[in-house]
Amino acid sequence: MNPLIEFQQVCKYYQMGETTVVAADHISFQIYKGELVAIVGSSGSGKSTCMNIIGCLDVPTQGTYLLKGQDVGQMNKNQLAEVRNQLLGFIFQQYNLLPKLNLVENVEIPLMYAGVSKRERRERARAALEEVGLGEKWRHKPMELSGGQQQRVSIARALVGHPAVILADEPTGALDSRTGREVLGMLQDLHRQGHTVVLITHDNSIAVQAQRIIRLEDGQVVYDGPSNAPEAVVTPRAAGGGSL
Ligand SMILES: Nc1ncnc2c1ncn2[C@@H]1O[C@H](COP(=O)(O)OP(=O)(O)OP(=O)(O)O)[C@@H](O)[C@H]1O
Ligand SMILES: [Mg+2]
Repeated sequence: MNPLIEFQQVCKYYQMGETTVVAADHISFQIYKGELVAIVGSSGSGKSTCMNIIGCLDVPTQGTYLLKGQDVGQMNKNQLAEVRNQLLGFIFQQYNLLPKLNLVENVEIPLMYAGVSKRERRERARAALEEVGLGEKWRHKPMELSGGQQQRVSIARALVGHPAVILADEPTGALDSRTGREVLGMLQDLHRQGHTVVLITHDNSIAVQAQRIIRLEDGQVVYDGPSNAPEAVVTPRAAGGGSL
């Protein structure tokens, strides 16, 4: 089986005047269909950089990113937008719902970009809202919901286009711990249903709920393996392992 996501020695550099910031430093990993993977690391470790590359919002400076075998680095803006729409479903920390649209209209947005007819859009969006337990509320505006409910709407919006990969960037970051667990439970359900989920978080207690952890430090992968191994949540430096 071919990997769905493959990073081959991916580097991302930012030029800041005289200095070069290395945000991703030869990162390699493979993610297969049906996996639930948490990408973790402290602030500045390169999580958002990876997320932006996986999500086709940015391309590597060096190295190769293959999404379903396609080389994303070779794509132009239109191709990137198309791949984003067809293959990826996004869940953001701040939900990113449009306040003037009601819930079903918010969930329809990815289908609009995909050119799906109005009638089918409405049907699929309502079904997706049912799936996250908000079928009854489809006419409401986002502001009329709790944070957890808004995040469930954004999960519905991520799912509605049947993406190959669901990318969640700190999806529980704006929620209290109980609601955060609920949202995480929904991501675990999606995984059980066979979806591929990549979760980005700085929170170890969230990360260990995934099946596999990829830990970043200073733009490098310092751990990649099962989330229940003791070394999964202990950074080599914090463990006093000396210099790397
Ligand atoms: N546009 C940019 N220009 C310059 N440097 C950048 C840019 N984006 C990120 N960086 C740098 O790259 C490194 C990795 O940043 P990144 O945003 O990926 O970290 P992160 O793990 O997402 O952190 P956080 O948990 O704080 O969101 C940091 O040192 C950051 O300052
Ligand atoms: Mg970040």
